[in-house]
Amino acid sequence: MNLMEDIIARAKANKQRIVLPEGSERRTIQAADRLIGDDVAHIILLGDPEEIAELASELNLKHIKSAAIIDPKNHDKKEIYANLLFRLRQKKGMTPEKAAELVEDPLYLACLMIKNGDADGEIAGAQNFTSDVLRPALQIIKTQPGISAVSGAFLMFTQTAQYGENGVLLFADCAVMPNPTSEELATTAIVSAQTVRTILNMEPRVAMLSFSTKGSARHEMVDKVITATRLAKEKDPLLAIDGELQVDAALVPEVAERKAPGSSVAGKANVLIFPSLDAGNIGYKLVQRFGNAEALGPILQGTAAPVNDLSRGCTIDDIYKMVAITANQAIALKNSGSR
Ligand code: ACO
Repeated sequence: MNLMEDIIARAKANKQRIVLPEGSERRTIQAADRLIGDDVAHIILLGDPEEIAELASELNLKHIKSAAIIDPKNHDKKEIYANLLFRLRQKKGMTPEKAAELVEDPLYLACLMIKNGDADGEIAGAQNFTSDVLRPALQIIKTQPGISAVSGAFLMFTQTAQYGENGVLLFADCAVMPNPTSEELATTAIVSAQTVRTILNMEPRVAMLSFSTKGSARHEMVDKVITATRLAKEKDPLLAIDGELQVDAALVPEVAERKAPGSSVAGKANVLIFPSLDAGNIGYKLVQRFGNAEALGPILQGTAAPVNDLSRGCTIDDIYKMVAITANQAIALKNSGSR
C-alpha cells in the first residue's frame, strides 16, 4: 500500500465527521460525493440545501443524499452556536448582535460546530482566502495545550526518491506566520515532527533551514534559526533535529559530509523548516512547479482540532485526500486524549 492509500484506509477504519463549509462549490461537492461513496468520512455540507440539491442533480451525484446538509441561515442550533461564539469572544469585543451575524458565515459555523463537539474536523479554501479560513480557527478552536503557534505544512510527494523518505518530505511553515520568532520556529519544528509521525507514520529528521550552514554566514536571520534549533532541542531532547543548515546540506549526503560532518540529520532530512513564510511558500511552489511534485496542504498544525486549508486552484482529488488527512489528524488527537 502506498502512503496515501494507508492514510485513506486509516480514515475508513475510524470514520470522522468532516464539515465542508463550501458546500455548494463544484469541486467540493464532487469530492464529497466520492468520499461518501468510498465510505471515507461522515460528510457535513454547509450551504443552501436547494442550491446543493440542484448542483447534485446537474452533476449527477449519486451519494450526496447521505451527507448531512446544514443551511447556515436556518437550522436548529443557530442560537446555541451564536451564544457559544459570544461567550468565547466576549473579552475580545464580541457582541450578541455580531455573533448572530457571524454564525451565518459558514467558515465561522464550521469552527463552532467543531468546538461544540458536533464535527471532528474541517476543510475549506477552494473558494476562500487562506486568512479567512484560518482566522475563525485561530479565534475559536485555538491551539493544543502546550503549543503556542499554529503553522501550515505541505506533504511533498516528489519525483526525487534520493531525498527525504523515498522522495516524500514535509515542508513548514508554508502558510501561516509571515515572520516567525525563534520560539515560533521551534514550535513549528515540534508540531511538524508530530505531523510526520501521525500522518506519514515515519520517524522525523528535522532540518532548520537557513542561508548558512554551521556558522558559514553571520546575520541576525541566521541567529534566529540557531536559537530556534536550541529551543526545539530543549522542548524535545529525543527529536532528530539540526540547524542551521542550507537546503543542500540538509538533503544531499555528499554536501552534508563537507558542510555538517557528524550531523544526525544533514544529508537525510525528511522535514524542512523554513525560516520565514516567504521562503516556505515560495519554496514549496518551486518544488511543485519545477520538480512536478504533488503538494498536499496546507495542513494546519498545532490547532486543538483539525482545520485545513486548500489552494483555490485545488482539484477534486486534492479535496478528497485532504479530507482523509483531516480525519487522520482527528483520530490522532482523539487517541492522544487531546480531544
Ligand atoms: N498561532 C496561533 N494563534 C495565532 C496565530 C498563530 N500562528 N496567528 C494569529 N493567532 C491568533 C491571535 O493570537 C488572535 O487570537 P485572539 O483574537 O484570541 O487574541 C487571533 O489568531 C487573530 O489574530 P490576528 O493577528 O488579529 O489575526 P490576523 O487575521 O491579522 O492574522 C493570520 C492571522 C490570518 C493567520 C495571518 O497571520 C495571515 O494572514 N497569515 C498569512 C496567510 C496567508 O496568506 N498565507 C499564504 C497563502 S497560503 C498558500 O499559498 C497555500
